[in-house]
Amino acid sequence: MNKWQIKDLQGVGDVELSLDDSKRVFVLFGTNGVGKTKTLEALFIYYLINNKFFNTNVHISSLPVQAISLNEREILLEKKHFQWQHLVAQLKEKREPFAFAYLGSAQRCRVTEPRITIQQIGTIEQRQSAHFKVIAKALSQGSLKNLGGLAYLNEWFVARAQASNSFQKESIKSKNEIHTVLDALNKIDSRIEKTMQIDGSGNVYLTTSGEERKLTELSSGFISIVKIIQTIISSFALFYDDEDLLNIKGVVLIDEIESHLHLEWQVKIIPTLKKLFPNTTFYIATHSPLVLSQLEEGEAYLLKRDEDGVVRSQIINSPNTRLLENVLPEAFDIDLNELKRQNMENIDQTKVQQKLLKLLNG
Ligand SMILES: Nc1ncnc2c1ncn2[C@@H]1O[C@H](COP(=O)(O)OP(=O)(O)OP(=O)(O)O)[C@@H](O)[C@H]1O
Ligand SMILES: [Mg+2]
Repeated sequence: MNKWQIKDLQGVGDVELSLDDSKRVFVLFGTNGVGKTKTLEALFIYYLINNKFFNTNVHISSLPVQAISLNEREILLEKKHFQWQHLVAQLKEKREPFAFAYLGSAQRCRVTEPRITIQQIGTIEQRQSAHFKVIAKALSQGSLKNLGGLAYLNEWFVARAQASNSFQKESIKSKNEIHTVLDALNKIDSRIEKTMQIDGSGNVYLTTSGEERKLTELSSGFISIVKIIQTIISSFALFYDDEDLLNIKGVVLIDEIESHLHLEWQVKIIPTLKKLFPNTTFYIATHSPLVLSQLEEGEAYLLKRDEDGVVRSQIINSPNTRLLENVLPEAFDIDLNELKRQNMENIDQTKVQQKLLKLLNG
């Protein structure tokens, strides 16, 4: 078991997680406000600080957690005037190289109209440094909700297409990123073709079910799936420039994964992500029973506040081999069988009453 201890998490208090160390997908369930989003943020901070690539002088004014440890390897954090350099220096020897991505819950379904100026891509170091500044700003503002949910999806495709143009002076490997995203989307849903078009105004078109569609006009569910894949791959490309982006070692955190997804995709999303990224560990929060229905033993956990005030994880047993109606009471405190019985009783009683009335009225 992997034991996580999180101390004094903002708005939540202490959290303890016991997660099956033979798994690489961990999905958190629990009532509104129990602390799923905040727990993901704390895990993200742990992985951020432990990352060998993370080495910047960015100043962060506050963090939402006092301390966090995995298997007793403690990282203490100061809430005020936090300096990354101190921690990074402390952990220097032990830090590991891996790619990571955080997908907050906001703006997953939004794409803005293309702006006239298309951003420059820059070198991998410049992109990394800009990315860490965005993370630092989000942490200082107290929420990672907007991270990984940028509306500029259109510009991302255009900038990479431009940079991989053979007339471009500096050759950039960004073509790899576009192809990886399109291939991955095609694997998730074969109706999405592996091609992309750009018009003179900088609009990006994807082809779905044989029809070309503007990114800005795709449905929210479609955009969500494109963004999940694009955010993971583009974040991974910040760490490894010209490699097989699907196979590198990574950590991905996704809040409210079911947002805007059609039921068919809610069922498919986790098994597909697992297959697409075979060396990545996923931490995910959701309320979706359909996401739950496809999880293996050791992948699903319920967060619950115990009597001593500590929020702890409880394993949800074999969700993918039990009937969903039998898992619901454990995971969501909903007993459909019992509700059905009550409804039947109510109907029966109404019928009996009607019969009695008929008799009385002759
Ligand atoms: N910036 C903040 N400052 C203080 N308290 C906060 C902050 N953000 C969240 N909280 C509180 O922390 C608790 C846990 O919030 P969190 O967002 O993690 O819940 P959740 O399990 O993700 O809920 P939901 O299912 O509604 O998304 C809540 O009581 C919330 O009000
Ligand atoms: Mg939440």
